[in-house]
Amino acid sequence: MPRYSFTLNGNQVSVEAPADHPLLWTLRDQLGVTGPKMGCNLDVCKACTCLIDGEAYTTCVTGMADVEGREVTTIEGLADGDELHPVQQAWLEIDVPQCGFCQPGQIMKAVSLLRKTSEPTDAEIDEIENVCRCGTYFRIRTAIKEAAKMTGN
Ligand code: FES
Ligand code: FES
Repeated sequence: MPRYSFTLNGNQVSVEAPADHPLLWTLRDQLGVTGPKMGCNLDVCKACTCLIDGEAYTTCVTGMADVEGREVTTIEGLADGDELHPVQQAWLEIDVPQCGFCQPGQIMKAVSLLRKTSEPTDAEIDEIENVCRCGTYFRIRTAIKEAAKMTGN
């Protein structure tokens, strides 16, 4: 079986897996990183969203061959030591989560949006496709705007 090496939350990791093995499964089952959630496994719910080289990817449909040599960041790697990422701080301040299941993916998607667009409009925020069964969308929008302010934008 081929072996793939990549950076995971700042650490070099190396795993054996088939080329088309979903990154989500490797993260959860082989590496014990359970922040990214499995919802649909079909690229619909986006609960599995992580960053690859700073861009949001749905990891249930990203094969291991596509992450070789790249930098993967999950919710577990977002904080800088004890210092939360501004998006995490905003999520706490606005008290966004309800059941919490979708929230790691929502946060990673918000981080990638703010990297591209420092002051996102409502329309840009509404393009986020991550599904929340609890309907926390209004607070997600508020928190993204709060995080944009925190980062000085
Ligand atoms: S689990 Fe990946 S999109 Fe739903
Ligand atoms: S907080 Fe429950 S699914 Fe989003």
